[in-house]
Amino acid sequence: MGEYGCDGELVKVLVTGGAGYIGSTICSVLEDYGHVPIVLDSLVKGQREFVRDRIFYEIDIADVEDIGVCSDHPDIDAIIHCAAFANVAESCQHPELYYDNNVSKSIDFLRYWCQWNCPIIYSSSTSVYGSAHRFVKETDSIENTRYLNPYSKSKLIFEQILEDYCYRFEFLGISLRYSNPIGADPKMRSGPYNEEDRLLDNLVASYFGDKQIDIFGSNWPTVDGTALRDYVHVLDVAIAHVAVLEGLSRLRKGFHIFNVGSGQGHTVKQVIDTFNQLMPEQISYRFVERRPGDFTGSCAKVDKIRDIFGWSAEATLEQCIMDHLIWKGTRIPDYKGILKEMAL
Ligand SMILES: NC(=O)c1ccc[n+]([C@@H]2O[C@H](COP(=O)([O-])OP(=O)(O)OC[C@H]3O[C@@H](n4cnc5c(N)ncnc54)[C@H](O)[C@@H]3O)[C@@H](O)[C@H]2O)c1
Repeated sequence: MGEYGCDGELVKVLVTGGAGYIGSTICSVLEDYGHVPIVLDSLVKGQREFVRDRIFYEIDIADVEDIGVCSDHPDIDAIIHCAAFANVAESCQHPELYYDNNVSKSIDFLRYWCQWNCPIIYSSSTSVYGSAHRFVKETDSIENTRYLNPYSKSKLIFEQILEDYCYRFEFLGISLRYSNPIGADPKMRSGPYNEEDRLLDNLVASYFGDKQIDIFGSNWPTVDGTALRDYVHVLDVAIAHVAVLEGLSRLRKGFHIFNVGSGQGHTVKQVIDTFNQLMPEQISYRFVERRPGDFTGSCAKVDKIRDIFGWSAEATLEQCIMDHLIWKGTRIPDYKGILKEMAL
């Protein structure tokens, strides 16, 4: 048992979306700390192999009432609710799917669970803050939601619904607003599985392609003019859940919000430079026009979760990139030689 151990007390946690990128890492870390995850996932996106040999209910969150998870496990201590669709571009194409899955189905799930008076930790996103502030903190008012993309809006809407349920039904709800989780479980039990439009995936694709990458905008108000992101290792995100779970008694019933980020931003150019330092060959970049909807970026203030739960992110950007590379190396055969060259 590690730093966040709770005197040998075993905690049983229902993890929705436990077959996904973040949920599966949370399950692994729960086990590392001596707890028992119970996975609930429809596999609409997630990976069966990430579930491993865990207790698993393959079902949609909206249908949870139809299965015997509660009678099978009346001793569930807490719920971590990660199940959602999480692709911004897709949400702009199909807002209806995002509101249905991330809001309606989550309400069905909540309606069922609120009778159990069980604490719920909800996976939210710092994207709900929008583009108004450079450093985002939990007390920032979120007034102009009009310009949020449907994904971020769906996360914010459910957060607000959860808050009302918490006060009405007197249970504890915690919204963890993650910044930009990256990397993979250092023990390689799971990792990113979608080729999404994320910087690291693009860098890897360019590395195996024409070794050139586009940077959108060169005159953002940052140290080097490129956009800023707060990257946080997915393992640190998972550990934050354990820290919160084991410190639940420090919170009153009701609803609480915590940012989960590294607390320091990195620009796109800094990420590319770090990637290049790690790789045997270099990727070059060229500046192109900003895309509609792009913004400078933001960095999460993380004092609140540190002060209450003693959690702060530990992994460096180099570690995030290296774990991402090793993970990709387990899945891309061409990669093995390069990883060997890098002695990873
Ligand atoms: N990845 C990020 O950058 C990021 C950032 C901030 C917040 N989040 C939040 O973290 C959570 C997990 O994101 P992720 O990146 O691991 O995504 P993911 O797609 O890898 O995982 C989501 C999991 O939920 C499952 N799922 C989706 N809808 C379901 C439903 N109706 N019933 C049952 N299972 C369902 C999917 O099959 C998948 O396994 C999401 O709530 C997301 O909004 C993610």
